[in-house]
Amino acid sequence: RDAAVSHRYIAAIDQGTTSSRCIVFDEAGSIVSVAQKEHRQIFPKPGWVEHDAQEIWANVLDVVHGALQKMSITVHDLAAVGITNQRETTVLWDATTGEPVHNAIVWQDTRTDQLVRELAADGGQDRFRARCGLPLATYFAGPKIRWLLDNVPGARERAERGEVLFGTMDTWLIWKLTGRHVTDVTNASRTMLMDLATLDWDDELLAAMGVPRAMLPEIRSSAEVYGHATGTLEGLPVASALGDQQAALFGQTCYAPGEGKCTYGTGSFLLLNTGEQPVQSANGLLTTVGYKIGDQPATYALEGAIAVTGSLVQWFRDNMGLIASAPEIETLARTVDDNGGCYFVPAFAGLFAPHWRGDARGVIAGLTGYITKGHLARAVLEATAWQTREVVDAMNADSGVELTTLKVDGGMTANNLLMQFLSDVLDVPVVRPIIAETTCLGAAYAAGLAVGFWPSTDALRENWHRAAEWLPATGDAADALRDKGYRKWKKAVQRTMDWID
Ligand code: G3P
Repeated sequence: RDAAVSHRYIAAIDQGTTSSRCIVFDEAGSIVSVAQKEHRQIFPKPGWVEHDAQEIWANVLDVVHGALQKMSITVHDLAAVGITNQRETTVLWDATTGEPVHNAIVWQDTRTDQLVRELAADGGQDRFRARCGLPLATYFAGPKIRWLLDNVPGARERAERGEVLFGTMDTWLIWKLTGRHVTDVTNASRTMLMDLATLDWDDELLAAMGVPRAMLPEIRSSAEVYGHATGTLEGLPVASALGDQQAALFGQTCYAPGEGKCTYGTGSFLLLNTGEQPVQSANGLLTTVGYKIGDQPATYALEGAIAVTGSLVQWFRDNMGLIASAPEIETLARTVDDNGGCYFVPAFAGLFAPHWRGDARGVIAGLTGYITKGHLARAVLEATAWQTREVVDAMNADSGVELTTLKVDGGMTANNLLMQFLSDVLDVPVVRPIIAETTCLGAAYAAGLAVGFWPSTDALRENWHRAAEWLPATGDAADALRDKGYRKWKKAVQRTMDWID
């Protein structure tokens, strides 16, 4: 690359569940430019969710060029690009033509429920947990690969010969950008195919899941130059990859054991840094890789994954038509003082942490003639807080330490009513940093470390500044909410289970 050009910025691509974004950051970690584009959600059957990987690739190129053009930046102004992505979403493509052999199967998709139950029949839902940190669930990539190999004609034979390749969205994008077939440890840790201790594909897991090694990418660290882009981004180093939740953990500068965050997006994901050793969960959490910077040892995390939070607000807007835009839910919820006894458990994709029930489906409980759309709006918002309470309880039990503050980020943190309610039901302060775009920031930080744009994680910590804080309510009403309110929520959760035969 041209040494005379100053590489003033780092770009991050966030390939998310509903949209793809590119954000350009400067050395202070401030946002210089943003571009974003939504892609289609394809619902072929109840419980099935697909994306078109080619559409996503085209959108990613569009948003990168869009973000550059907005501020008259060229690719030569960038020191590197980092990638962060919706995790577990699975794409298989032809190694020669680059054509996907099927739509990508999205992390929320439950089509593998039967397969997962069959696998669990022999040894239980936790039979692979000690090795890969995960319970058997439709959520993870391994069962999705198996489904594609079983259902796309000829795919298995071709995959065995390495003619059909597997990737999560990081891998797909790096392959399109550079021609390299690689993934990073955080994304690989969501497949059920990687051994958490060796950070390599595990032959027993591959055999149990029926996935040939020849189709898998090479597992690399989260921060290193995987290759240089060709095409319109010619020469740009692609220097980080992290699953979006791990990227947010990194962007929130949770670099010490005991530090954690919760990101409120389509779903919500609470990750706690547990240091250089994986900690097994006894309470329904996931053990996952937090990040690995180049040759340094991997940092592990415990994760509470909640499938449906922001997407419930979207559903309320798009499928029920009760609001015209997502922020209006706060206005509607404020038309009433409480939920009127109504609880909404959005088990649309089964229930994730801490229950892991693929057979659960959503319920609205406590309906009476008194309930208005205002109460429903409250119940929709409260569902996010109650689900967080469940994973925080599990996190406290697993780690043996009580959470004292919750760092938050993501779109839903703009909702003050929700953030206050969250603090009330958790009984801890909730804090948000100035740069709430922590997912992109984390990918940019990792890429910047890889190319020497930033010297160390200590330098990055100095960029974290508190923008907002919500303190828990005190008094009898608050105590009753935390006690009786939570009991009602748990009762409603019980009613979601055993719905699918
Ligand atoms: O595990 C799924 C998660 O990575 C999706 O994140 O923000 O795209 O909903 P998001």
